[in-house]
Amino acid sequence: MTGRLADKVAFITGAARGQGRAHAVRLAREGADIIAVDIAGKLPACVPYDSATPEDLAETVRLVEATGRRIIASANDIRDFDGLREAVDDAVASLGRLDVIVANAGISSPQAWNEITPESFRDVLDVNVTGTWNTVMAGARQIIDGGRGGSIILISSAAGLKMQPFMVHYTASKHAVTGMARAFAAELGRHSIRVNSVHPGPVNTAMGGGDMVAAVTKANEAIPQMAHVLTPFLPEWVAQPEDIADAVCWLASDESRFVTAAAVPVDQGSTQF
Ligand SMILES: NC(=O)c1ccc[n+]([C@@H]2O[C@H](COP(=O)([O-])OP(=O)(O)OC[C@H]3O[C@@H](n4cnc5c(N)ncnc54)[C@H](O)[C@@H]3O)[C@@H](O)[C@H]2O)c1
Repeated sequence: MTGRLADKVAFITGAARGQGRAHAVRLAREGADIIAVDIAGKLPACVPYDSATPEDLAETVRLVEATGRRIIASANDIRDFDGLREAVDDAVASLGRLDVIVANAGISSPQAWNEITPESFRDVLDVNVTGTWNTVMAGARQIIDGGRGGSIILISSAAGLKMQPFMVHYTASKHAVTGMARAFAAELGRHSIRVNSVHPGPVNTAMGGGDMVAAVTKANEAIPQMAHVLTPFLPEWVAQPEDIADAVCWLASDESRFVTAAAVPVDQGSTQF
């Protein structure tokens, strides 16, 4: 542990696996206690990859505890505002404070524009936009009440800066997250709370597993040149969750204390292509 977040408390959604787990472990290694939330169960029908499980969330608990920090984990759907707020309130009562929010939970679904149903459009917006808003609203008051300021990090995507072809709903949702970070930053700044968005390119997580690659390949067949619109400048196409956790850790720490309302790409340059 290096202590960049010594004795702080971070609330992280989507923490059962993938990037959310990497953020939990990374922030814990830097000295933070963790409030971890994940649905840890069935994702909406439009999602072509496997859902996270209670065992995944338990593994995150094990990994955080192995760092020597405390973690309070619960299975909650970020679409359920009351449940989320209760989980945060209970955990803050136990851990004593809240300093950092990482709104990371999200879903994606590759579908051509004319295959997106009203139900799948609503599901993606409900989780990625309303769920992200719920996450901030469930924790921001606790940071303000602490009187020490804090950092809120919203996980958007390259699709929140440029776009992701064959994902009108996902692209719309991630652009909304980009704007949400700026708008919260404007109002929460007077409480010394910074709000930034992070924009990963492709990351090696379960979101790219299951039938996801087949669904992307099928969608790309409609307009093949779209397969190249997020070509990276750097040799590696796919980041690891820990690469994104490095950026999240920097934004959570005082090293970024003058950075707010920023959209931080961690995308190998792909959104500039
Ligand atoms: N993997 C990528 O290539 C990539 C690229 C850019 C952005 N992102 C974004 O990064 C974030 C993390 O994704 P990941 O790659 O770790 O994927 P992932 O599917 O492995 O992890 C997402 C986690 O969020 C949880 N979750 C989903 N809906 C939820 C809900 N309603 N309530 C609570 N938890 C819920 C899932 O159970 C899962 O554990 C997402 O917001 C995603 O859109 C991913």
